[in-house]
Amino acid sequence: MRTVYVNGEYLPETEARVSIFDRGFLMADGVYEVTSVLDGKLVDFEGHLARLERSLNELDMRKPDGFDNLLEIHRDLVARNGIEDGLIYLQVTRGSDGDRDFVFPDPETTPPTLVLFTQSKPGLADNPAAKKGMKIISIDDLRWGRRDIKTVQLLYPSMGKMMARKAGADDAWMIEDGHVTEGTSNNAYIVKGNTIVTRHLSHEILHGITRAAVLSFAREAQMQVEERPFTLDEAKAADEAFVTSASAFVMPVVEIDGTALGDGAPGPVARRLREIYIDESRKAAV
Ligand code: PDD
Repeated sequence: MRTVYVNGEYLPETEARVSIFDRGFLMADGVYEVTSVLDGKLVDFEGHLARLERSLNELDMRKPDGFDNLLEIHRDLVARNGIEDGLIYLQVTRGSDGDRDFVFPDPETTPPTLVLFTQSKPGLADNPAAKKGMKIISIDDLRWGRRDIKTVQLLYPSMGKMMARKAGADDAWMIEDGHVTEGTSNNAYIVKGNTIVTRHLSHEILHGITRAAVLSFAREAQMQVEERPFTLDEAKAADEAFVTSASAFVMPVVEIDGTALGDGAPGPVARRLREIYIDESRKAAV
């Protein structure tokens, strides 16, 4: 049984409790982070912590008690659960004032809720899916307008994964005004010649922590990077494509809406960036 963290306590998962009035539960009034663990160490921890702080600020949410000890809490959970490879999920909500009201509760009297738990994923970096590559479909982007804030409003992304599954694909890319925004739970990239194209940062997409690291490795490796919107047609005509996220690292995409990219196998740029990202992350992990 897992040991999880709830508001200052380490508890067996079956004993952890959050109020039914918690605004995360009633209003999706919460933000989260997912940090990967390789060899028992945290990948890109500083980046996830910085983005969490930004998400809280953007929503006028108070920092939870324990915020300053988050590195220690992450490490404690890794140790207590014997995680070699896997993920740590962290969620902060605006807490519970014991009733339902659209108006935010007074942060002085209603503390945020802080929850963390682990997911063990042995061999996370050797995911066989990376050898095969993913098939994706395109769907309309029907999410709200502040996707740069990592909120727990994940119903539409969940529906997108189900649409993909129904269509015999692995995931979906979302389209707005004819351009790809991002994947349901990852950032999206195409490669044409020696150029990697990915949408620029704005309110329209999540500012991926893996994205930042991968783009800097790509530039170090003398690859050209263009941060701009790209269309679905451009994607289908690309030499290769891939996605990035804390849980998938760099994952090749081999098919879009039934159109095979290149020779239909993971491309060299995606494979190389995956290798670099995983190697460098292992080295830099805390
Ligand atoms: N998802 N875009 C969206 C919509 C995401 O949900 C995520 C991450 C990313 C990639 O961000 P990062 O590189 O910081 O993980 C982009 C996480 C992994 C999840 O929801 O499980």
